[in-house]
Amino acid sequence: MTADRNLRVHVTRPIPDQALDYLKGQGLDVTCPADDGPPSREELLSSVEDAEAILSILTEKIDGEVFERARRLKVVSNMAVGYDNIDVPEATRRGVAVCNTPGVLTDTTADFAWALLMAAARRVVECHRFVQDGRWEWWGPKMMMGADVHGKTLGIVGFGKIGQAVARRATGFDMKVLYSGETAPETSKWGEKVSFSDLLQSSDFVSLHVPYRPSTHHLIGREQLHLMKKTGFLINTARGAVVNEEQLVEALESGEIAGAGLDVFEKEPQVHPGLHRLNVVLAPHAASASLATRAKMATMAAENLVAVLRGEEPQAIVNPEVLEQCQSPK
Ligand code: GLV
Repeated sequence: MTADRNLRVHVTRPIPDQALDYLKGQGLDVTCPADDGPPSREELLSSVEDAEAILSILTEKIDGEVFERARRLKVVSNMAVGYDNIDVPEATRRGVAVCNTPGVLTDTTADFAWALLMAAARRVVECHRFVQDGRWEWWGPKMMMGADVHGKTLGIVGFGKIGQAVARRATGFDMKVLYSGETAPETSKWGEKVSFSDLLQSSDFVSLHVPYRPSTHHLIGREQLHLMKKTGFLINTARGAVVNEEQLVEALESGEIAGAGLDVFEKEPQVHPGLHRLNVVLAPHAASASLATRAKMATMAAENLVAVLRGEEPQAIVNPEVLEQCQSPK
């Protein structure tokens, strides 16, 4: 990319080395903070000022203010499948491509949804603490009794790649799988499509796999939690604001549902104090965090970014119309 030697890429956080090395190997001028923690808003704004490309992560808000400062920007490549941190209409209006990393994290995220489901149902965290704290003094027939997983009904809200990967794993547990979602296929060998309310009423485990957008904001609130079984568990590895956290706490306190496994929260990294309960398993938005998958996500984000800078088609783009505009004859 000799002609592009001066193109500047700002990577908003330290990412796995192979992706950074790949970017540097493309002859790009790459900047990246040394600290793992989030940059201040002003640090972010000043770092992108003369950048042609930003490789962002899901907590960096890439909005009109960022676009205003980064006047040479051509692409924002998010190291995530979700892109609700980016103002996509504004990017499109300014001709900035927005890329994401679907596919490479599907199985790792599905594994983690299952880890939360199993942990919540079988009280794994509580068991661990009990043993670790030295409180285990005798074995008792009524100790740590939880809910069975095998043979139960799993309801999957949103049946895209990750939802389907979660469903596939249920066959090993002899579960009945229900799924719902406006864009979900009418039929699937992995489960039966039902209405959202039927799913909530019939499932023992409800796992959320919808993207966050205005139509999915607080998709799960008091009314939906009330429809769920009192013995039911809610698993969320999608986005925090898909669930009304305040109302989830109320439902957990009043016994409307039996428990929850949560990887995502409305105001990360803050967690509603009412969620610090024995029947809730909490994780710090870590569903895609395997060594291999984070490396793949970073590499894909870097490759997407380079493809756009080269005028080539990236593996994944959220607003392809931007590329079409660039390619169409004037
Ligand atoms: C993680 O939450 C992602 O969207 O990749």
